[in-house]
Amino acid sequence: MFEIRERDGLARIGRMETAHGSVSTPVLLPVVNPNRPIIPAKDLADRFRAEILITNAYILGKSPDREAVLRDGVHRFLGFPGAVMTDSGAFQSHVYGDVDVTNAEVIGFQKEIGADLGTMLDPFSEPFHDHARAAADVEETIRRAKEADSIRGEMALVGAVQGGLHADLREQCARDVSALGVSVCAIGGVVPLLESYRFRDLVRVIVASKQGLDPSKPVHLFGAGHPLVFPLAVLLGCDLFDSASYAKYARDGRMLFPEGTRHVAEVRESGCLCPVCVAHPIQEIAASERLLAEHNLHVCFGAIRDVRRAIADGSLWELVERRGRAHPALLDAVKDLRQHNEFLEEFEPLSRPGAMYYVGPETAHRPILHRLRQRVIHRYAAPPAKGLLVLPEGDRPYSERYASVVERVLTTANVHVAVKSIWGPVPLELDHVWPLSQSIVPEGIELEALEAAEVFFREWAAGAGYPFGLLWEDPRTLDELRSRAPGGRTVDWHALRVHATADLQFGRGAANALLGGTVSYIVSQNTGKVRNVRVDGEHVLSLRAEDGWFTLKAAGARRLWKAFSMPKLRVVVDPDAVPFVREGKNVFAKFVRDADPEIRPGDEALVVSPDNELCAVAQATMNRREMLVFKRGVAARVREGVSPPSSAPPR
Ligand code: GUN
Ligand code: ZN
Repeated sequence: MFEIRERDGLARIGRMETAHGSVSTPVLLPVVNPNRPIIPAKDLADRFRAEILITNAYILGKSPDREAVLRDGVHRFLGFPGAVMTDSGAFQSHVYGDVDVTNAEVIGFQKEIGADLGTMLDPFSEPFHDHARAAADVEETIRRAKEADSIRGEMALVGAVQGGLHADLREQCARDVSALGVSVCAIGGVVPLLESYRFRDLVRVIVASKQGLDPSKPVHLFGAGHPLVFPLAVLLGCDLFDSASYAKYARDGRMLFPEGTRHVAEVRESGCLCPVCVAHPIQEIAASERLLAEHNLHVCFGAIRDVRRAIADGSLWELVERRGRAHPALLDAVKDLRQHNEFLEEFEPLSRPGAMYYVGPETAHRPILHRLRQRVIHRYAAPPAKGLLVLPEGDRPYSERYASVVERVLTTANVHVAVKSIWGPVPLELDHVWPLSQSIVPEGIELEALEAAEVFFREWAAGAGYPFGLLWEDPRTLDELRSRAPGGRTVDWHALRVHATADLQFGRGAANALLGGTVSYIVSQNTGKVRNVRVDGEHVLSLRAEDGWFTLKAAGARRLWKAFSMPKLRVVVDPDAVPFVREGKNVFAKFVRDADPEIRPGDEALVVSPDNELCAVAQATMNRREMLVFKRGVAARVREGVSPPSSAPPR
């Protein structure tokens, strides 16, 4: 069983239950080579607090210790009280071309030795396999996964995803494997990619696999033990990693660091705060394979901790982009993430706590900004005016920074105003939504980022309907605006803001639905910003100070419900759940029948019965894909229940 505690996009912090205790994810499973354990398993438990390790059932089965393992079980044999995952020999088949064991035999052996998680014997798809060969691998993988599932008994099974570099095969294999009785889905066949730093291909493989995988199951990335790749792989939804690299590098006299490896002979100062480096001078570490391995493992565990912290505080994208600077091939992969924005965006939360930091030109291509630009094009309706005043990037919030310019211009020119921001076009009335005001951007910006901003701006401006756009350069711009768009323009900024934000958040037409009637605003005395929106005396919306998006009230939900038909904005629940939801209880994923495919984590949603009766207004914590497959957990947090319309008989 896998429970997700916190998430950020596809990344998650979870708990995985095993027969030997629960394991916090993301997690690194140290590889224990039964023939050559550099750090004994007991020390992994006692000194490294490892909750889980991985060892190789194929090697154990061939070793002179075979009988001892069968007799004592793998936990006693290794002296490890926590969870033990075993691998099957698939990797040995990659290295040696073949293994002399069958899938059924190796599953049977793993069961007998008491593995908590046993792995099927998957055919290893090499990256160079053509489509036909990889398709055959996938077919065989599924056959063996089914076989393994039928004989696994009580043992939790790890199902493999193969398919080489072929995205369609990866997705299909992932879908078929995760539909079986497997507890963990493992993306395999990637070691050759890691060894040759083909991180772009690695990203493609993970994304293709994730598109088919059941999002409620934990995902293992086979053979990815280098801390460099943890942030990226977790960002894409991997939860478990296995590492032999701590031991392999130690054998070669190499020290791992969060940003790469170095031969210990070249290391004058380790600069590391791990217990090994604190207690031993570098010469002692250099002379001991054991100490090197321990340092390396501390660094690997530390890298996982960094990732967990980043998930918890919503800064994983920043960590990934920063880590990209550690190796050019990794940077290429980070820059290539934008190719997968359609998929990544589905999992993006509406907003994150805190500010967004510019790391490099690729920051502007994050899925959250891709979404914002798409929504400005497709959902936002630009107000009528004779032209557009374009303001350059500057201090935020733009509306305050440019208040005096805008006021002067609008007294004599009939134009609308938008900022050519580094993140894309920002109509001035939208400058408060996350992360537009809440981002930290340097003054000197790379040319690549400026060029992208130009392209983003044009994509929107071309369809916005203004006869011309003019960039603000100096007060002389005012004269030109005056002559090309004479007349001035009176703007109710509160109304414009509320209108634009509503359309952007709920879809074009939402503002008209929500705000039809007599509108009044409650404005914060401190900030001068709109807090609550009332229409015909009803409280329909509250504007959140933290992220600039609306919280939907029941009266607002009723208006949207009337204006938009199924399934827009809806989470459809089982009739059984209706009375609970109406009382204000949360919506559990297992009761969700369907949902609007456009709902994202953090979005406001209308909870309805299958007959489309409005039951509650809620904040989604999942997207549709997740709501439909998760058996546990909350799919939407109910803000307010809605009673059925009174059924008093007409008099
Ligand atoms: N270890 C590294 N790669 C693989 C793989 O593709 N399958 C299995 N079972 N183990 C691996
Ligand atoms: Zn160290």
